[in-house]
Amino acid sequence: MTRYSLGSLTMADVLVLPFFEDSSLEVYIKDLDKTYNGLITTALESGDFTGKKGQVSLLYTRDKNVRRLLLVGLGPKKELGIQRYKQAIGAGVITAQSKKAEKVAVMLSESVVSVFGPYRAGLETTIATILAEYAFDEYKQKDNRVTPLVEVIFVGNFETKTKSLLDRGITEGQMIGESVNVTRQLGNVPPTTMTPSYLAKEAEKMAKDFPKLKTKILSRPDMKKLGMGCLLGVSRGSSIEPKFIIVEYRGGLAKDRPLVLVGKGITYDSGGLSIKPFGYMNDMKFDMLGAATVLGTMRALAALKVKKNVVGLVPSCENMPDGEAYRPDDILVAMDGTTVHVSNTDAEGRLILADALCYATNYKPKEVIDVATLTGHCRIALGMERSGLFSDEEGMVKKLIASAEEVGERLWRLPLGEEYAEAIKSEVADIDNSGILNGDGRAGGASLGAAFLQHFVKYPWAHIDMSCCYYTPKGKSWIRAGANGFGVETLVEYIRN
Ligand code: BES
Ligand code: MG
Ligand code: ZN
Repeated sequence: MTRYSLGSLTMADVLVLPFFEDSSLEVYIKDLDKTYNGLITTALESGDFTGKKGQVSLLYTRDKNVRRLLLVGLGPKKELGIQRYKQAIGAGVITAQSKKAEKVAVMLSESVVSVFGPYRAGLETTIATILAEYAFDEYKQKDNRVTPLVEVIFVGNFETKTKSLLDRGITEGQMIGESVNVTRQLGNVPPTTMTPSYLAKEAEKMAKDFPKLKTKILSRPDMKKLGMGCLLGVSRGSSIEPKFIIVEYRGGLAKDRPLVLVGKGITYDSGGLSIKPFGYMNDMKFDMLGAATVLGTMRALAALKVKKNVVGLVPSCENMPDGEAYRPDDILVAMDGTTVHVSNTDAEGRLILADALCYATNYKPKEVIDVATLTGHCRIALGMERSGLFSDEEGMVKKLIASAEEVGERLWRLPLGEEYAEAIKSEVADIDNSGILNGDGRAGGASLGAAFLQHFVKYPWAHIDMSCCYYTPKGKSWIRAGANGFGVETLVEYIRN
């Protein structure tokens, strides 16, 4: 476990120094420059490093206690935003790890602290550090693994009052950052290991670590009793047991109606009998990231002791094509009695979510938010950096977009509407699971998926289609390849404010 604290610089393998492109040196850096006989100003004078965003430059000192200074560019000061800042810090940490650093110091820039405020600066710097540090490399040979950090110290010149806010930010940033990495780890585990039962066990482990979390796991017989015909239908083609995971957190008053989070937990999506063509099946181990996002969020809420009541619901199974598999043309019956014609077994996410959205009604929820890797169409529409947001609740939309912005994630509103609700009507059942009979198979696919979910909703609701940015296929300078934990920070921000 890495230690994170606010402190003064005594010893570090690398000291990360964030730099603006266009402003004079901060006092802390000026002092360092003096200590190291103009090392920093010499580097700047060479023109190799100007503070442009994305730039990193490593300088070596003769100081045995602080061998390396790492300059990281933030771009122009007036453009400073949380996302760019976190990327710069992350790039600093990953570069430091490439030098096998175990003890890293990160300077908290005075300007950053004054722009974001000390709490937010401490919080986001810590989260960026923790996210950068994580690597999914346990399957690699030992000498190819990333050197884990032992200690991170945040340094700078601050007054006592600022310090206590920074401190709180660092402590809470640790709780959130570690929770995001829990989500990422769950996403990265290979699919033969990452089964619904495994996911359920992880939820139970989490509840052991945070006694405020209560779990309940439903198995097939329970689902049958409840009439979860859609979840049961999807799970039929797999030899692996489905699970319905319930995590309850009561941080608010007993009478407060809860917010319910629902996460798609398809531990592998082969497409089922409507099997995915070559190439499209790759990365489908990540199809449980909605579920992992919900679990990571629940963990963070418990760690932060947020004073709200929140319930996490995770319908989980595999979508596989064996002799028992549900078939195109089958008609499934959801928990609320809705009959669903299956026109494509690859539109399985909305089916399992349908039963979970029905189940959510039991809680008389104040609001429900579902997160799901629901449609490839959403990614086609938005690319890899924004997720789709669907809701008729203007208040939720505004607040969700603002929460995402606040933490450096991005949501983009896409439409719900009568035309989509019409398009998913079926000739033989109440609704159709893909709506492809009414279109060319691709047109408006993200909204058709959302309209399907909306059919089951009887409370204020928002749907996040995270098919766009749930993972980083190649790894970036600030975050390594694999699941990126998208959504956890946004949801935590949304819920606690
Ligand atoms: N899990 C996929 C969606 C997905 C695709 C997520 C690519 C991330 C990347 C989902 O179950 C699916 O297969 N959706 C279909 C829906 C269609 C059959 C109506 C899709 O997107 O093609
Ligand atoms: Mg699918
Ligand atoms: Zn899927």
